[in-house]
Amino acid sequence: MKTKVTVVKDFTVGTTDINLFGSFVEHLGRSIYTGIYEPTHPDADSHGFRSDVIKLVKDLNISLIRYPGGNFLSNYNWKDGIGPKENRPKRLDRAWYSIEPNEIGIDEFYDWSKKAGTEILGAVNMGTGTVQDAGDMVEYCNFPGGTYWSDLRIKNGHKDPYKIKYWCIGNEMDGSWQVGHLEANDYGKKALEAIKFMKATDSTIKTVVCGSSTSHMKTYPEWDRIILESTYDFTDYLSIHRYFENKGNDDDFLASFFEMDNFIKTSIATCDYVKAYARSSKTMMLSFDEWNVWYQQIKEPHPWVTAPRILEEHYSLLDALTFGGMAITLLNHCDRVKIACVAQLINVISLIFTEPAKGCYKQAIYFPFQDISLFGRGTVLQPIINVQNKITEKYGEVPAVVFATVYNEEKNEITVFALNTSKTEASETEINLFNFEKTRMFYRTELTGNDLSARNTLQNTEAVKPVNAPLVESDNGKFEVLLKPASWNVIMFKIF
Ligand code: AHR
Repeated sequence: MKTKVTVVKDFTVGTTDINLFGSFVEHLGRSIYTGIYEPTHPDADSHGFRSDVIKLVKDLNISLIRYPGGNFLSNYNWKDGIGPKENRPKRLDRAWYSIEPNEIGIDEFYDWSKKAGTEILGAVNMGTGTVQDAGDMVEYCNFPGGTYWSDLRIKNGHKDPYKIKYWCIGNEMDGSWQVGHLEANDYGKKALEAIKFMKATDSTIKTVVCGSSTSHMKTYPEWDRIILESTYDFTDYLSIHRYFENKGNDDDFLASFFEMDNFIKTSIATCDYVKAYARSSKTMMLSFDEWNVWYQQIKEPHPWVTAPRILEEHYSLLDALTFGGMAITLLNHCDRVKIACVAQLINVISLIFTEPAKGCYKQAIYFPFQDISLFGRGTVLQPIINVQNKITEKYGEVPAVVFATVYNEEKNEITVFALNTSKTEASETEINLFNFEKTRMFYRTELTGNDLSARNTLQNTEAVKPVNAPLVESDNGKFEVLLKPASWNVIMFKIF
């Protein structure tokens, strides 16, 4: 098949926000315990954090990490996780049927985030938690000192405030599975009061209200309209979440980008409807703070233990390609999606996988995420694309190849991300950059393979990884490349 992409400097979508390259760490399964924290591990540092994990996290250049949940959040009392460890209570976590030892709380996670080079996207409990708890947490984390909670933080070892700027007001409160689930009107009222109280404590913070947990919710997008009508003038972002899984039709699965694109467009439309109704001049931004591939199989009930092996997804090359399509969609909506968090980072539906007392490795989805995080920063351009459509059972006609093009003015570079979703046909792709001065291709990788079910494991950590692909000379600003069937491609150009 033949594909043509013409990139024009002045056709811009928007600038990528630094927070588009975020992730998520929840007290869930082995994400914290034997994930980031394992004091008995040979690579543990003086805090008990696994330095082998920190190294892989740092290589991703993650901007912010959502913490501590997730469903866990809605039955978590953050006050259990501060002070001397020996005094902290062990609690039942009813969201994930686990025992939470509270060895890690906000103080330890803050230390870890500094070592990993990221900011925290904080979250307050709107399930069992109160408006008071939410305000107290902001006071503990961000108030300089001289009050009960800020002085307690200082006593607990952190003189300087954490300056956590972004805060989620609850998690997936539209879901019947959520501890303390609320109806839209009730959540809208509670969220509004929490935001007012939190912003009265620290006026510099930005807040994210819970939009729909997925586009499949019966209440979508009505939930979003109702809660935005309550909070529009007070909040800064609307949160949305979406996971995809392969239900047996690879072409449908590879076209998940198409549904994600529609979800974002409908969510933007809902925000803009409320903007008009509220006669507001403010434009609401989206926080896509959970996105990934996830096979949500029902598991056998497990005993009450700490760090059970749950949600331990082992990602295939096919999953990584689908994930790449989702990443392209996020980049192409960078004008309105300002925060995004791949869910999650370690061991549960994760980019990185660890084994207790053993090593860790990069899952297949690590690579497309790393690519967009390292090379996807700048101005996203809207190229003119001529591409063949393919017919899918679920979505009808969708483009067979999808692109995102990012212009990094500081570095004088253009990056083309391309996903060829055809499993059988290569794409003879012409990339036209003649609108720019002189250009030279200097970097090109592809993630592909004959076995789409290939996965990395501790024994074979490199079964799936990107490889260098041939560089192509410019023909007056035109570059002809072959994008292999079922491939994720990163092609970079220098502008002179
Ligand atoms: O990321 C796993 C879970 O998915 C989160 O805890 C929840 O918010 C979502 O349903």
